[in-house]
Amino acid sequence: MTHEAKETRFDRLSRPSIAEILPMVDIKLPNLFTPKLPKSVATINDMRARASRMVPKSVFDYVDGSAGDERTYQNSLDLFQRVRFTPKQLRGVDGVDLSTNFVGVQSPVPFALAPTGFTRLMHHMGELAVARAASSEDIIYTLSTMGTISPDELASYLPGAKLFFQLYVWRDRSFTLDLLERVKRAGYRAIMLTIDTATAGLRYRDERNGFSIPPKITPKTIADMALHPRWWINLLVRPPLEFATLTSTDGTVSDLVRSVFDPRLNFDDLAFLRESWEGPIVVKGVQSAKDAETISKMGVEALLLSNHGGRQLDRSLEPLRLVEPTRQLVGDDAQIFIDGGIRSGSDILAALAFGADGVFIGRPYLYGLMANGQEGVKRVIEILKKEITVQMQLLGVSSLSGLDKEMVKVI
Ligand SMILES: Cc1cc2nc3c(=O)[nH]c(=O)nc-3n(C[C@H](O)[C@H](O)[C@H](O)COP(=O)(O)O)c2cc1C
Repeated sequence: MTHEAKETRFDRLSRPSIAEILPMVDIKLPNLFTPKLPKSVATINDMRARASRMVPKSVFDYVDGSAGDERTYQNSLDLFQRVRFTPKQLRGVDGVDLSTNFVGVQSPVPFALAPTGFTRLMHHMGELAVARAASSEDIIYTLSTMGTISPDELASYLPGAKLFFQLYVWRDRSFTLDLLERVKRAGYRAIMLTIDTATAGLRYRDERNGFSIPPKITPKTIADMALHPRWWINLLVRPPLEFATLTSTDGTVSDLVRSVFDPRLNFDDLAFLRESWEGPIVVKGVQSAKDAETISKMGVEALLLSNHGGRQLDRSLEPLRLVEPTRQLVGDDAQIFIDGGIRSGSDILAALAFGADGVFIGRPYLYGLMANGQEGVKRVIEILKKEITVQMQLLGVSSLSGLDKEMVKVI
């Protein structure tokens, strides 16, 4: 019998505890942590370009990438580009009112922030930076089950903020119930149940990059440190990067999703959730008008037509195409939202004109977060707000209810 084969902890290098060393270091690094966001970042695509320079490639790819050959996501982006507007002229639009509501929660704008997991990877302040930017504008933010801050802790820093909680139903149902109880106590206004993640989509960029959680230090990563020192320093000196509600964090995100979430999720689970949660429910990831009708009959308040930003089922339909058929079957029984590929105020107005009640955005605010933390997210919100305001005036409508199907077509 040999006693040599198995690696022991003494064989590995141990990371020095930087938190212990730091108090001894007498160097101030304020600008290293807060670079200024240049005025030239005027659009979401500008922000995306800046984000790609600010973080390691594997991090940017994790956010920017999608499943399969990435055509599904590209198709959503392309479809928005093919929308053409016909304005209502000579209507006299002095000011515009962008306000609406998401499942009864008032919002000053027709967009809300979608859930995105593992957000402290993009910037060390993670969900907190995003939620602070959102709440400073009174905008709804949805915290993911895969968050790097727990629902209770996030809510404790932001009393009064408009927070939704995105739920993945776990294999262990008692855990789901405990989580719902905590979320309720913390004052979250709605639950968003994601139904498109029976397993993780095939994210080839992550595989090629050897992306893992937590990030591994390899010769490649050491070279990357020289290019993105700010990101790496923050990773090393801040509290460890971990999922706040999960325990096992070794491997790719896909490995984690596969081990924790329940592929048997079905309509009985939705009925179970309806009984367990008194507040509004948004079902996210709906991909057919027929399913939308069945789900809405189960008494949920809203449907989020979504293909997870092209990150799950490859070759799924662009959500924008589903808005009209869903409205025909669901009527006004439930609100209809969409997400995926929204990169401008025009995209948002197109979705609303086709009949959506509101939209959610994911990557746009993550680009802002990677580019400049809270300030970057705030800029993203400002850009979209400005674009919607100007475009509405040019379209000749003073409130969102003035948008209709006659004003849009896809060429
Ligand atoms: C990095 C990243 C992480 C995400 N994590 C989650 C998640 O934990 N739960 C979820 O329901 N959706 C998640 N999504 C999907 C978003 O909620 C949303 O559906 C998608 O980003 C919309 O497309 P967009 O990025 O083009 O706006 C994630 C998306 C990204 C980009």
